[in-house]
Amino acid sequence: MKTLVVFYSRSGTTKWVAQEVARALNADVDEVIDKKPRKGILGFLIAGYDATKGKTTEIEFEKDPSGYDLVVIGTPVWNGRVTPAIRTYLLQNRGKIGNAAFFCTCAGRGGKCLEQMGEILGRRPVLSKALVKKRLDEGIKELVEELKALSGSTS
Ligand SMILES: Cc1cc2nc3c(=O)[nH]c(=O)nc-3n(C[C@H](O)[C@H](O)[C@H](O)COP(=O)(O)O)c2cc1C
Repeated sequence: MKTLVVFYSRSGTTKWVAQEVARALNADVDEVIDKKPRKGILGFLIAGYDATKGKTTEIEFEKDPSGYDLVVIGTPVWNGRVTPAIRTYLLQNRGKIGNAAFFCTCAGRGGKCLEQMGEILGRRPVLSKALVKKRLDEGIKELVEELKALSGSTS
C-alpha cells in the first residue's frame, strides 16, 4: 500500500512522530510549511488565536496526495483545535485524498482537533489517534501497529 505521511510542526514534535511513522511504514513524507511566522511569544499567541478562529493560512507542500492509497496526516493541537496549516491542507486537497488517517500531538488535551479534521475533509478517517507528549514512544508504537494492521486488511 503506497502511503504518504503529511505533517505540520511548529516545534518539532509532530515532525519527529511523522518521520518515525514514515520510516516504520516505508512511506513518503511531506512537510506542510506555514508561511505565517509562528515563533516567539507573539507567534504563539497568534497561533492559538488563529486556530480558535478556524483561520486558514498560506502554505507550501511538495507532494500530490492523489497518488497514494493512504494519506496519514499529523498536526499539533492548538487550543484544542487543528492548526491553520493542516486546516488549509485538508481544504486544498479534499478532492485528492482517498483513505485518510489522522494523528495529533498534544500536551494532554486533544480537544476537538481530530473531530475537526474529519469535518474539514468531509469524510471519516480510517483511523485517528491523539499522541500525548509524555507518552510519545508508546503512542508512535501503537499508531504504527494500527496502521500496519490497516494496510494488512486493505492490501
Ligand atoms: C498555540 C498553542 C496552543 C496549544 N494548545 C494545546 C491544547 O489545547 N492542548 C494540548 O494538549 N496541547 C496544546 N499545545 C501543545 C502542543 O499541542 C504540543 O506541544 C505539540 O506536541 C507541539 O507539536 P509541534 O512540536 O510539532 O509543534 C499548544 C501549543 C501551542 C503552540
